Amino acid sequence: MKLTIAYLFSILYLSAGAPTHDERIIGGGIASPGQFPYIVSLTENNRHFCSGFIYSEKWVVTTASCIVGKIASNLKVITGQLDFTTPDPHEEIHPVYRIVPFSEYDATNQLHDLALLQLTNNISYVTPDGVYFINYNEVDLTNPEAIIMGWGAYQEGGFESIRLRYATTAIQNEMDCGDYTGSDFQLATMICTNAATTTSATAGAPCQYDQGSPLVQYINSKPTVVGVMSKNRGCSVDQSSVYTRLSVYYSWFLKTAGQQELDNTTVTTPEPGITNTNPVTTEESVVTTVTEPAVTTVETEPAVTTAGTEEDSI
Ligand SMILES: *[C@@H]1O[C@H](CO)[C@@H](O)[C@H](O)[C@H]1NC(C)=O
Ligand SMILES: *[C@@H]1O[C@H](CO)[C@@H](O)[C@H](O)[C@H]1NC(C)=O
Repeated sequence: MKLTIAYLFSILYLSAGAPTHDERIIGGGIASPGQFPYIVSLTENNRHFCSGFIYSEKWVVTTASCIVGKIASNLKVITGQLDFTTPDPHEEIHPVYRIVPFSEYDATNQLHDLALLQLTNNISYVTPDGVYFINYNEVDLTNPEAIIMGWGAYQEGGFESIRLRYATTAIQNEMDCGDYTGSDFQLATMICTNAATTTSATAGAPCQYDQGSPLVQYINSKPTVVGVMSKNRGCSVDQSSVYTRLSVYYSWFLKTAGQQELDNTTVTTPEPGITNTNPVTTEESVVTTVTEPAVTTVETEPAVTTAGTEEDSI
């Protein structure tokens, strides 16, 4: 069963034509409060344009392609955001003090597509336990499933979604990434995903306005960000997407934003199937996996998912 991205990252617009806020979602899922406390919305002149994730109280990670040409004073980072139309209980709006793109970012093929945003003020609240810094690590290939989340469009050229949504995809470990070959895809610094082989009811792919979103794996049941959404061509489930491979940039993160604190909170997994209990054992892994038991658990409501039964017709 293949599902089209048209349904995944947005409020569904019925084919009859009239836009509706009917949340009849096919594939993907609507995020529940607290499910992805680390994701942030980046806004320019109060409009969402990309996502990012919380590195520390004062730093947010996104892509260089999201922020090239932008002026810090026009940008704001929204934490604790779930729904654009209503003020979420712990939503915070943070001015951006400084934009720091990775210095060797190459716009031609989006090589090293990574940036840090320094906030003017500390984030103060994301979960009841405080700011949720999601730790990053090398990809765990023993279970290639990963989650992508964001407020992205439901079709090429579409508008952003009102509600935070998520979808399940799978990490490919090959030299080519769909149509991306040669210098457009470099396995050493990029991650490729494709949901075509994913049997999950929430299979999906990112679309416009999902750039900068974290690609998350559950490693030892702990959400761990492994990539940042960089580029794709088309948004259908069988299209491949490219992410910046975060583990490569450890020293740059350290130099620019300091050592990342290890958070002591956890979030429940969005679906049992994606929990990965296999430890990361790769030698290349630059950042060690957090293995200490979590001190506190943030309870989240079960995700609202309506599994699609329709066959993909696109
Ligand atoms: C802001 O957060 C940093 C850690 O990222 C901390 O060292 C600093 O004390 C915090 N500042 C305030 C005013 O809370
Ligand atoms: C862990 O969480 C508790 C709240 O449950 C908080 O008081 C404490 O500062 C946290 N520790 C760290 C290292 O973040």
